[in-house]
Amino acid sequence: MKILITGSAGFIGFHAAREFLRRGWEVAGVDNFCDYYDVKLKRDRAALLAGTPRYTLREADICDLAAMQAAFAEEKPDAVLNLAAQPGVRYSITNPFAYQKTNVEGFLNILECCRHAPGRPKLVFASSSSVYGGNTKMPFEESDRVDSPVSLYAATKKADELMACTYSHLYGMQTIGLRFFTVYGAWYRPDMALSLFAGAMLDGRPLKVFNNGDMKRDFTYVDDIVDGIVRTVEADGLPAYDIFNIGNHRSERLMDVIEVLASALGVEPKLEMLPMQPGDVPATWASVEKLRRAVGYEPKTSIREGIPVFAKWYREYRGR
Ligand SMILES: NC(=O)c1ccc[n+]([C@@H]2O[C@H](COP(=O)([O-])OP(=O)(O)OC[C@H]3O[C@@H](n4cnc5c(N)ncnc54)[C@H](O)[C@@H]3O)[C@@H](O)[C@H]2O)c1
Repeated sequence: MKILITGSAGFIGFHAAREFLRRGWEVAGVDNFCDYYDVKLKRDRAALLAGTPRYTLREADICDLAAMQAAFAEEKPDAVLNLAAQPGVRYSITNPFAYQKTNVEGFLNILECCRHAPGRPKLVFASSSSVYGGNTKMPFEESDRVDSPVSLYAATKKADELMACTYSHLYGMQTIGLRFFTVYGAWYRPDMALSLFAGAMLDGRPLKVFNNGDMKRDFTYVDDIVDGIVRTVEADGLPAYDIFNIGNHRSERLMDVIEVLASALGVEPKLEMLPMQPGDVPATWASVEKLRRAVGYEPKTSIREGIPVFAKWYREYRGR
C-alpha cells in the first residue's frame, strides 16, 4: 500500500511518514519547504527520512495543479494524507493570502487529484480545533456548531471541511477530516508557544504569557496524533465523509504547562503577562469519544510524560 503525504517535511508529516514506513507502507512525500519557519529544520527532518526504503520525496507546491497531477499519476497512491498548510493563527492577521492560497486553492487541487485518480484514493486531511472559535461549551464535540471562526486560519480549515464534504457527495470519494488539538513533541515547530517558551527560558528572557495566563489548551502528544491518523487511514467501514476531533481529552492550564516545561528544562521562568491576542481562543478541550468509537483511538500521553521528551529534543537540537 502506498500513501502520498503532503507536508511530509513538516512537524506532523515527518512523524506520520516515519510511522507509515515502520508499518510497511510505501510513502510518497510532497513538501514545498516554504520559509514560514526555519527551513533548516524541515531539511533536517527530511534528511532523517531520506534513504529509507519505500520512501520518496518530491519538492513541489500543492498549489501547482500540474505538479500535483504528475505526482498522483506517477505514484498512484492508495491513500492520501493532506497535512500541507499555512498554519498559525497570529500570522493570518498579517498574511491572509497565504491561507487562501495553500489551505483553500492547494486543498482544492488535492481534492481534484483524488477525484480523477484511478481507484479514488481515500483522503485524510488536517483540520483544526480552531474551527470551534470562541465556543464555550466544553468539551468540544463534532456535533457542535462551528459557524463563527475567530481567525482566517480557522475559516480556511472550515472551508476545507465543507469542500471535502461536497466532493464526497458529488463524486463518491472518501474524505475524512481530523481536527487536531495543539500537537507537540520532538522536531516541533518553532512558532508554537511551547517552543517560544523553551527558547525564552533557556535564554533567560521573560515568557510572553497571553491573556494573563488564563488560557487552557488540550495538548496532544505527536505519537498519539500519529496513532489516530494511522488508525483512520487504515480503518475500513468509515463513512464517505466524516469529521473527528483528535486531541488528548484533557484541557491543561497554561500556567501548569509552563511549570512542567520549566521543571523539565531545570530553569526558573520569568513571566511577562500580556492581554489576549486577536484570533486566539481562551480554551480548547476535545471530546475524543467519536474517534474512539470509530477506530479505537486512545490517547495515552500526559503533558508530564510528553513535555520532557520535547524539552530534551529542544535542548539538544538547539545545541547542535
Ligand atoms: N501542530 C498543531 O498543533 C496543529 C494543530 C491543528 C492543525 N494542524 C494542522 O496540521 C497540519 C500539519 O501541521 P504541522 O504542525 O506539521 O505544520 P508544519 O508547518 O510543520 O507542516 C506543514 C508542512 O507543509 C509544507 N507546506 C506548506 N505549504 C505548502 C504548499 N503550498 N505545498 C506543499 N507543501 C507545503 C510546509 O513546508 C511544512 O513542511 C497542518 O495542516 C496544520 O494546519 C496542526
